[in-house]
Amino acid sequence: MEEHDKYVEALIRLHSGLDRQGPGDNDFSKFIIKQIPEMPPSPRIADLGCGAGAGALILAEKFLSKVKAVDFSREFLDQLLARARQRGLEEFIEVIECDIGNLSWRPGTIDLIWSEGAAYNITFKGALEAWRPLLAVGGIAVISEMDYFSAEVSKSVRQYMKNAYPEIRTESGNVDLINSSGFKVLGVHRLPSKAWWDNYYEPLRKKISAIGKSGDSVIQAVISETQEEMSFFKGHEKDYGYTYYIMRAV
Ligand SMILES: C[S@@+](CC[C@H](N)C(=O)[O-])C[C@H]1O[C@@H](n2cnc3c(N)ncnc32)[C@H](O)[C@@H]1O
Repeated sequence: MEEHDKYVEALIRLHSGLDRQGPGDNDFSKFIIKQIPEMPPSPRIADLGCGAGAGALILAEKFLSKVKAVDFSREFLDQLLARARQRGLEEFIEVIECDIGNLSWRPGTIDLIWSEGAAYNITFKGALEAWRPLLAVGGIAVISEMDYFSAEVSKSVRQYMKNAYPEIRTESGNVDLINSSGFKVLGVHRLPSKAWWDNYYEPLRKKISAIGKSGDSVIQAVISETQEEMSFFKGHEKDYGYTYYIMRAV
């Protein structure tokens, strides 16, 4: 197996079985959904980079309409299916194992795109370009993106991001990008940093303890990287984080 594949496999193993594979919060998601303008009856929904389905399940429950849940990890999609069955929501979840940057769906066929913590994988700009054509007239996208909370970012954070996420922008930079990419921004909402800890990093810490020293060198490297990420975030959570952008296709 190639180095990169081993790395992805280790990342999936570390995040497997968790409710969320990235920062987010169910109550916050419900708040965001309340801000979405009225949807047509039985809206056509897609959760892109759905992981084990934290967002897809909330959307299915709220709209009682089919959610296309896309991820390239079969393991996460199977976990989503199991969770959907447990909640009696399986008829509303269609899992699709593919690349979120290469969706061959007919243009104009989705009413609501939802994507948490995943767009950066194809760059935020790339996600806006790839997903805009999928939306029906007046369709809505909700995308969370990691960004700087102001233009006054310390040198150490900028240095860290050179490695961690070189494409990172400020919130206002992302608003400008969205507004010049065939969308109009309807809402900008920061995910509280508490949600990172309560729903993502704490469960990850437990998983890391459970793995202990048992994993191979690749998983141990992924664990160290994750621990560094957590400790850097602890010191700088006022400088950067996830922002949820609600936008309408125009
Ligand atoms: C940070 S996780 C977020 C998962 C989920 N949305 C959540 O909030 O719990 C990012 C997800 O995107 C998936 N992913 C990353 N790049 C992808 C790609 N190019 N195509 C499909 N899925 C991708 C990963 O497998 C992972 O499940």
